[in-house]
Amino acid sequence: MKYRILKALNDADGYISGEQLSESMGVSRTTIWNYISLLRREGYVIRSVTNKGYKLISSPDRLSPEAVSEGYTPSLVGKELVILQETDSTNEEIKRRAAAGAASGLVIAAERQTMGKGRLGRSWESERGGLFFSFLLRTELPPSDVTGITLAAGYAVCLAVREYSGIDARIKWPNDIIVGSKKLCGILTEMSAQPDQTEYIVCGIGINANNKDFPEELREKCTSLAEETGSETDRSRLLGCVLKKLDRVLSSFMVSLCVEDMDHFRKLCVTLGRRIVFVRSKERIEATAVDVGSDGELIARDDSGKEYSINSGEVTVQGIY
Ligand code: BTN
Repeated sequence: MKYRILKALNDADGYISGEQLSESMGVSRTTIWNYISLLRREGYVIRSVTNKGYKLISSPDRLSPEAVSEGYTPSLVGKELVILQETDSTNEEIKRRAAAGAASGLVIAAERQTMGKGRLGRSWESERGGLFFSFLLRTELPPSDVTGITLAAGYAVCLAVREYSGIDARIKWPNDIIVGSKKLCGILTEMSAQPDQTEYIVCGIGINANNKDFPEELREKCTSLAEETGSETDRSRLLGCVLKKLDRVLSSFMVSLCVEDMDHFRKLCVTLGRRIVFVRSKERIEATAVDVGSDGELIARDDSGKEYSINSGEVTVQGIY
């Protein structure tokens, strides 16, 4: 009932009367009033005006499972959703639950991480305001066949951020999401596998949503949705949007992106056409990124015309953090 009232307030264009609410919900006006009081105690600011009714002014910045799952029936990603107030790292939490037998598709989000992890052993700034979550995928495919998942995850997040906020989010190969030249989102994929068989994949996503102040050393390199749009992000709605895209992209194309998605990926990928630097057999190589192959590898050409296929590791892109 509480969420039906909240949805009606959210959907209303202005005020909605107590009478309208009680009629559409089939309960008394006193019941409506009691739920409005409950919502206010939970941090929702709801204005009430005699003869007009109620208007939702603002919602608390808190992840709500009902709001995340609204209008979305997952076929894979998000079949189970757990929201924690705090954990060390959602990737670690998923790994613990995977070891205890958790099913494919589990999503764990946390309001805050005490030991958020980034790629290459770095840490990930995880104070309240950001969106931190991970999902679990189980597959028995050989590890070499699932490398496309990391690309697919970045692509899905990029689509969701664009749809949710309208900003021109782009992909820095393989899966950083950037706006202009600053990082908005990072993805850390980990896997448990035998040489010829994957056991499970954990994909952790950190989106700078309502982060206001970045530490000094990150200020020039990172941005947030709040900074880009000038308004608060409804993180539950954003998470719902991302899960929907992940579910679509990963359920039908578990291993790699389909051709249309791959073409769209290339259009959104800022790395293509730029000068890049990477290391090959301890040698620093400068080249131009020319394409992304069907397995997600970055194809680059140096000035002598020699082609390289890059599968992992750090690639520095000129002009981007
Ligand atoms: C990167 O270095 O770009 C990857 C950052 C990944 C951060 C996310 S936040 C949710 C999940 N839990 C973690 O500890 N890390 C990932």
